[in-house]
Order: sequence, then structure tokens, then C-alpha cells
Amino acid sequence: MKGIRVRLKGLAKHFGRVVALRTLDLDVRAGEMVAFLGPSGCGKTTTLLMIAGIYQPTAGEIYFGERRVEHLHPRDRDVGMVFQSYALYPHLTIFDNIAFPLTLKKIAPAEVARRVRQIADLLGIAHTLDRRPGQVSGGQQQRAALARALVKEPQVLLLDEPLSNLDAQIRVQARGEIRRLQQEIGVTSILVTHDQSEALAMADRVAVFSTGELQQFAPPDELYRRPANTFVARFVGYPPMNLLEGRYEPGAFVLDDLRIPVPPGHPAGRGWLGFRPEDATLDGDVPGRVTVAEALGRENLVTLRIGPAEVKVLVPQGRRPAPGTPARLGYRREHVHFFDASGRRVGA
Ligand SMILES: Nc1ncnc2c1ncn2[C@@H]1O[C@H](COP(=O)(O)OP(=O)(O)OP(=O)(O)O)[C@@H](O)[C@H]1O
Ligand SMILES: [Mg+2]
Repeated sequence: MKGIRVRLKGLAKHFGRVVALRTLDLDVRAGEMVAFLGPSGCGKTTTLLMIAGIYQPTAGEIYFGERRVEHLHPRDRDVGMVFQSYALYPHLTIFDNIAFPLTLKKIAPAEVARRVRQIADLLGIAHTLDRRPGQVSGGQQQRAALARALVKEPQVLLLDEPLSNLDAQIRVQARGEIRRLQQEIGVTSILVTHDQSEALAMADRVAVFSTGELQQFAPPDELYRRPANTFVARFVGYPPMNLLEGRYEPGAFVLDDLRIPVPPGHPAGRGWLGFRPEDATLDGDVPGRVTVAEALGRENLVTLRIGPAEVKVLVPQGRRPAPGTPARLGYRREHVHFFDASGRRVGA
């Protein structure tokens, strides 16, 4: 099985007056795993369903390799899809569920059996094949749905929130399994999720969406280190980045009485300053007061009021200051992010 390059050009989808997807240009490399990440209603599923051929685009083009596919029926697109609900047939055995796409293609029974066993082995569910979906665990149902999508050996694998029905522990394990399998098979994959940690953990590159518009398309570490705007800065990373709205003056970011030094040459005017909780300390020179200190396990998350704003600071486990305690905010200068009034990143 070999993945194929997937390109979206000027892709858009309107449902009457609702603009589900504005205009999307995206280039997914052969064999790559890309995550579509964004809050509910931002257009992730709509985009996926256009790639699958279930929705017809309002405008734009979809290429698999050099071939345009918008006019092709889903059956003729060579796509495997896993839905959030799995959509396994409850009255069929796991074997028959996985075999279903092959049976539709009228492949000989012996060949069907061979391929079903092979994929079931790969996913560790060979021992469940004669049971029905109701007689296996959630994690096994999820793997059966994945097996059904992969048994056709598709060129493109589309996954819509495939892990959302699993409990937290199995979820983390399933992430690793899907990723390993995807790399092993080399199938070009798009994973839809609203969970930023899932997207960062699984994908080669992440496309972040907000209200039908692509915000940034980048590898996980770049998304984290250089968010293109305040939306991405807030959405990616947990606990989220601290963002203060104020005014840039020569040499300083000013928020009421608060003056935070900034590098020279920064454009003046209103804007945002951001830093992540792990890049901040309680040993700096900006005076503040602790309002809350929460234990997160390995670290404590301290909320600090400085001037009119509240910021979060991650501190080592041993340190948990009581509410009301004075503290002085510090932050690593090299990890401060600047954004203009419209939220767009300024500088490196
Ligand atoms: N068949 C439809 N008819 C009308 N509007 C639709 C239809 N499908 C989606 N929409 C609208 O298009 C927008 C994008 O929906 P979409 O399902 O793509 O979001 P999503 O990012 O997958 O969200 P979620 O994380 O909740 O699944 C939403 O405003 C939604 O209400
Ligand atoms: Mg969706």
C-alpha cells in the first residue's frame, strides 16, 4: 500500500447562507499524516467529507496525485474512512464488518478471508473476529472500524474523531497504535480532531481551523513555538498561552501601570503580548499577587494577578504559594510572543 499526494485548491463549501469552509488551499504529501484541528463547527468534518466524496464542493478542486476527483463517486476514490461513531453493523460479526468493503467489490471469499485476517492480526483483534460489535470492548470496536477502512488498501485514509469514544487511557494507547500502523502502511492520512494534544502527538503537520478558515499549517513544534496568530496561540498548548492586551510604546509593552520591556524596533500601537505558563516564573520583577494555586501532579499551576490581568505560571511541585501571597512575575525573554492588534504574529 502506498500513499498518494492530496491537494486542495480553493476548496469551499456553503450550506445555504452558512459558510462551512471559506477557501482552502492545502497540500498533503504522499504518506503524510495531517491533522485538522479546531473547535466545534469550524469545518473539519465538512472538509473531510468533500475529500471522501460524500459532499460536493461549492467551489474548488481536489487532486489525488495528478488526478482531479471532485466528480468521482466515493466508491471510485480509493478512500478508507473511520467515523466518530465507528458505524459498525451490529448484526454482523467483526469478521463480516471488516470484510464488508471487499464483499462489495465481489472479491473471492478465500482472498477476503486472507486479507481480513492479515489486517486483524496487524491490529491485534484476530481473536475477536467471530464476535459481534456488542461483544467486544470499545477499543476493539475502534480497531475493527480502522481495519474495515484499511482492508481495501486505500490510498487515502480519513479519520473523523476516531478516538473520541474511548476512555482517556485507551485513547493515548490507541493514538500510538494508529500512528505506528499508518507509518508502517504508508497511507496518506487526515485525522480530524478538536483535541490539540492528539493532533500534536499524532500528526506530521497540523492544519488549525477557525470558523471555516485555515489559521496555520505547520509541524507540531512550529505551531507551538511560532503560532501565527492569537487564535493558534490560545488553541495549541496546555495550559494555554498567557495573552495580555495592551499598547506597545518604544521599548515597552504597557498595560495600565504595568510596563514590560520589549526589544527595540517593535511597531508602536495596540497589540498583544504572550508567554506560555512554562516560560514564566515567580522570581521576576513584575509585581503581582497569587490568586489560586492548583496541583497538576508533576507541577503546580499558579494564577497571578498583575495589574488588571491574570496570568498562569507553572512552577515545580514543591512550590505552592497560598492565595494572597505577593509574587513577582518573570518570563524568559526569548520565549515571549508578540501580536499586533488584529492578533497576527509580529517578528520571529
Ligand atoms: N448538512 C449541513 N447543513 C447545514 N449546515 C451544515 C451541514 N453540515 C455542517 N454544517 C455547518 O457547517 C459548519 C461546519 O460544520 P462541521 O461539521 O464541518 O464542523 P466540525 O469542525 O466538524 O465540528 P465538530 O467538531 O463539532 O464535529 C457548522 O456551522 C455546521 O453547522
Ligand atoms: Mg466534525
